[in-house]
Amino acid sequence: MSKEVTLETLTSLAKRRGFVFQASEIYGGLSGFWDYGPYGVELMNNIKNMWWREMIYAHRNIHGIDGAIIQNPRLWKASGHVAGFTDPMVEDTKNGKRYRADHLAGVDSSDLTELAALLKDKKSPDGNPLSAPRVFNMMMKTWVGPIESDESVAYLRPETAGSIFTNYENVRETTRGKIPFGIGQIGKAFRNEISPRDFIFRVREFEQAEMQYFIHPSEQEKAYQYWRQWAWDFYSKTVGLRQENLKWHEHAETERAHYAAAAHDIYFKFPQGFKELCGTHNRTDFDLNSHMSESGRDLTYFDEATRERFTPNVIESSVGLSRFFMAVLCDAYTEENVGEEMRVVLKIKPQLAPVKIAVLPLSKKPELSALSEKVYNKLVRSTGYNIEYDETQSIGKRYRRQDEIGTPYCVTIDFESLEDGCVTVRERDSMKQTRVKIEDLEKYTTVI
Ligand code: GAP
Repeated sequence: MSKEVTLETLTSLAKRRGFVFQASEIYGGLSGFWDYGPYGVELMNNIKNMWWREMIYAHRNIHGIDGAIIQNPRLWKASGHVAGFTDPMVEDTKNGKRYRADHLAGVDSSDLTELAALLKDKKSPDGNPLSAPRVFNMMMKTWVGPIESDESVAYLRPETAGSIFTNYENVRETTRGKIPFGIGQIGKAFRNEISPRDFIFRVREFEQAEMQYFIHPSEQEKAYQYWRQWAWDFYSKTVGLRQENLKWHEHAETERAHYAAAAHDIYFKFPQGFKELCGTHNRTDFDLNSHMSESGRDLTYFDEATRERFTPNVIESSVGLSRFFMAVLCDAYTEENVGEEMRVVLKIKPQLAPVKIAVLPLSKKPELSALSEKVYNKLVRSTGYNIEYDETQSIGKRYRRQDEIGTPYCVTIDFESLEDGCVTVRERDSMKQTRVKIEDLEKYTTVI
């Protein structure tokens, strides 16, 4: 029996099993910041690898980069973020607490007139009058170098896309790329969100996986549809999120980012409702044109075959990895009755599982430990997987613990193993148990 997970259950599972902790928890935390624990970092790395394989390796004309978090601030002036990366905000006029105006109004809009009309008779969550909506810039600032002045202000990047645009020419030249081609990147992004909330859904520091696809202007519609379909297939088939938990959302004009001529999100059914997981955006020639004006560098493309010179247009595929991570956990969370007991099992794709195999000696007797450690060491070396060794508590409890973190295979070593060289492999979802020869274990437990 699958069950829709609540935010409380998810947050508590994430903490109890070492997926996600509140950042600087011993100091009371810091709103919008989270740390990933031992299983969290494994799941996140597997998510990143899955995206990288399907985005970069599966497309011969897409290349990866890893840009710096802090760039020349002129990049963000050109991209329009310094002036226009804003969210609508209202203030509680009594206690000064700040809220997203669109969230309080219950609409996806950044139009201040529309929001003012919708919020006219509304009170703050504390029951106080609200200010008129105004814009709030979400860029996080710092200073570079020893002098804190207006000249040394720099920004923590609000999206990874920035350094992809500024490296467009470098990558094209070094890869001898011809349009169409793409550049992908995974890395941290920072936004001074007005009201971070819903666990790791809306945070102030997160990772993005983004790809910018550079095309001829006439190819906009075709490429846009291709990348929309890619996103749908990736999340529903490769990642395995259930289709009933996914739906399309087309951005209205008032909702779109300042650089987008069209935007389609995929919404996922999070515990707080259907919300944005990822987006496909048509950024037209907005970014390259802006960078040409700001930098004075020519970023146009000359097509040898057609003898045509043009500014490439860009279709963008973007996802925030904390939301991706949260969607994977929500989608996989399952409660099942096993006899009198209830088991919690994370039915995630084995490729994403933080631990692929758990080696579980039936007792701590030295002869069993010796064989179990041998099996563990052999598997670690030959598979390269993250494998866990656990000899504490009853075997039932150890199975439950592995179910809760989504381990696809438990390998139990018993006294018979000493005689027949076989071990019991238990599969997570079916709980089916099979005797397997130790030398066949790698083959039997292959997950990639
Ligand atoms: N480069 C385009 C871009 O950044 P966006 O819609 O602002 O577009 C892309 O962000 C993705 O980043 C979103 O689809 C979402 O998954 C994620 N994201 C945005 N803001 C976030 C936040 N405050 N916390 C977590 N994820 C966020």
